[in-house]
Amino acid sequence: MKYIILLSFTLVLIACSNEQEPGFLGPLIPNPDSIEMSSGYSEITELIFSNDNAGTKYYNSINDLSFNRMAIKQSADYNIKFESLAEEGLEGAYYLQINKREITIKANDEEGKFNALSTLIQITLFNDNLPIANISASPKFQYRGMHLDVCRHFFPIADVKKYIDYLFFYGYNKFHWHLTEDQGWRIEIKQYPKLQEVAAFRKETLIGHYNDVPQKFDGKRYGGFYTQDEVKDIVRYASEKGIEVIPEIEMPGHSLAAIAAYPELACENKPYDVGTKWGVFHDIYCPSEATFEFLENVIDEVVDLFPSKYIHIGGDEAPKTAWRNSQFCQDLIKSEGLKDEHELQSYFIKRMEKYINSKGRSIIGWDEILEGGLAPNATVMSWRGIAGGIDAANAGHDVIMTPTSHCYFDYYQSNNPNEPLAIGGYLPLEKVYNYNPIPSVLEKDKHHHILGAQGNVWTEYMPSFKNVEYMALSRMAALSEVLWKEKEDKDFTHFFNALTAHQDFWKSKGVNISDYRFDVFPKVYTEFNKGAYVDIKELPKDAYIEYKVPGFSIWNSDINFPFYLKENGRYVFRAANNTVKGRPIEKIFQNHLGTRAAVLLVNPPADQYSGLGAGSINNGILGSDEKYGGDEWLGFQGYDFVAEYVFPEKTDISKINLKFFNGNGQWIYLPKKVEVFRSDDGKSFKSINEINNIGTLGKIANVSISTKDLKTKFLKVVAKNFGKIPQGKQGEGNQAWLFVDEVIIE
Ligand code: ACM
Repeated sequence: MKYIILLSFTLVLIACSNEQEPGFLGPLIPNPDSIEMSSGYSEITELIFSNDNAGTKYYNSINDLSFNRMAIKQSADYNIKFESLAEEGLEGAYYLQINKREITIKANDEEGKFNALSTLIQITLFNDNLPIANISASPKFQYRGMHLDVCRHFFPIADVKKYIDYLFFYGYNKFHWHLTEDQGWRIEIKQYPKLQEVAAFRKETLIGHYNDVPQKFDGKRYGGFYTQDEVKDIVRYASEKGIEVIPEIEMPGHSLAAIAAYPELACENKPYDVGTKWGVFHDIYCPSEATFEFLENVIDEVVDLFPSKYIHIGGDEAPKTAWRNSQFCQDLIKSEGLKDEHELQSYFIKRMEKYINSKGRSIIGWDEILEGGLAPNATVMSWRGIAGGIDAANAGHDVIMTPTSHCYFDYYQSNNPNEPLAIGGYLPLEKVYNYNPIPSVLEKDKHHHILGAQGNVWTEYMPSFKNVEYMALSRMAALSEVLWKEKEDKDFTHFFNALTAHQDFWKSKGVNISDYRFDVFPKVYTEFNKGAYVDIKELPKDAYIEYKVPGFSIWNSDINFPFYLKENGRYVFRAANNTVKGRPIEKIFQNHLGTRAAVLLVNPPADQYSGLGAGSINNGILGSDEKYGGDEWLGFQGYDFVAEYVFPEKTDISKINLKFFNGNGQWIYLPKKVEVFRSDDGKSFKSINEINNIGTLGKIANVSISTKDLKTKFLKVVAKNFGKIPQGKQGEGNQAWLFVDEVIIE
């Protein structure tokens, strides 16, 4: 049954721009809960709203979208009617009825009406004639958010409006606007003109990756801010689409730009510059009366601009170095009876929460606000994982899930080496789609505290809005079904087919949405005693594989899988059909003794950095020197890398070459030592050599260790994890990551 539906659905996608199969509504995302169709079409050719206030409101909400297809107007002779739902209490739910001459939208709240309008707009885009249909949907989560960092890079108001259009299109109702940062303060605060004159601009910007050694800068002044009139315009624009804008004013960390403008807000009295590179800075607000007065005055203006229930106060990544070194802070810790700097942060946040509560608003903070004691009414955004969310929910607090593992849309979305530079990580579409914001370990009676989830778009590596569209839009579509649909009603294949039509649509509008339809992912595995081979499990529809082997520049298409690698060198694969050639993906093969061995990883790598498992380190393929995700790198947080090898026979081994990633900004550290062991029985191992000083000036450390003319069937290679990240470093106190690439055995 499902097969038939999918097949027909695909036909509609192909046909939707000219002739229509009756009975299909088009590739809707989020796909509504229920669609009942009869065979006819509506005679409606334009959407006509009433002349009264409500009509004007809904007319305005969709008239200024950047992508309308059907004519929209207002008239006494209207064809869109709004009514209440028979059932009460269905927040955001809607019922949309398209009849011959009239459209009826039923909802119990404004949000439901906007959601229905969003679905209606999608239907108009994908159908020449509106099919007669009854559609209903009810969001699974009440908080359906997308975030945008406008500080690392600044986007004009017109782009922010486009972003809001995308949120509306995909059924989101919260726009988390990240407005203040180390690298720029982006909201006009009238009482503090230096925020506009100084804090909104940096003297230059890091180019390339943060981990590059040496770091490079563009030498160009950069910045900008939104005037209060522009902010009001955005708040109005969003609210017309049922979207609440939640401003984020970061404290006590990520505050270098403000401190550069008003150095008296820092603990140390010295000049500061607005940040020019990414990461975390030690210079944070001092918990002084001057700071509280400043922040309260800022909040006064902010609450006047934003009617949102929530004000986000940040709270993340505030290193305590400056507070540890400050006599004022140490005295304050004593006089307030606090235990340490974490409790001082808690004191800071609680004090600001009290102030914000006194304005009738609630705070949201990143999960670090749990440390040192949670502010009484705070909602927690769980980003470093899900543990913060679980703890907060168990303590009776509301939670918004936005873990890096599933919600950071600044991470790479594809392992294709031609992806534009990103911060790191790997978050493919399907992983986003399969996310469940309710942690499996959370007791049922706490589920109601999980308000929803949010996709985060940090823009260090997105200098233009085109980059934002590329990184955010496809995954935003995927997360929307997470937020709208029950787990058992989700279907990735159905979604992916719908997304394909959306990608065509957005591209036709000049929107830079990512499109991986023609990406293929050759994987290189190993077989004991035989060596490395390539397999490609999934091919795009109607495509075949083209490939090149080392030393040849023409594309071949006669390939059978598994395809054993014999020659060392560069292999290139791509998907192709008569008209489309996919992005090529290359594998540089270097055969070595390890490809014929069986390998056991004693400690499993972290789920999200588990590559091909043991195959990642013995398939003869080196990973990228630029990024550590993908098939070829393995990541271990806190754990040692321990690989045990069994060779087909006693084997002469002279040395072992290892490659590690170095990126302290991403909590990635080189191992403390590398050690090699031999064994006669595969059970008891004896150390034969070790290297203790593993250093590099760059992102990659290559280590070569002699095995001293070893002949063995059993071998063990260990790289010792760095352990806890030291004080003063990014991620201090957390377990360091160890990233290991191919272990080349010669
Ligand atoms: C965060 O990504 N620092 C919240």
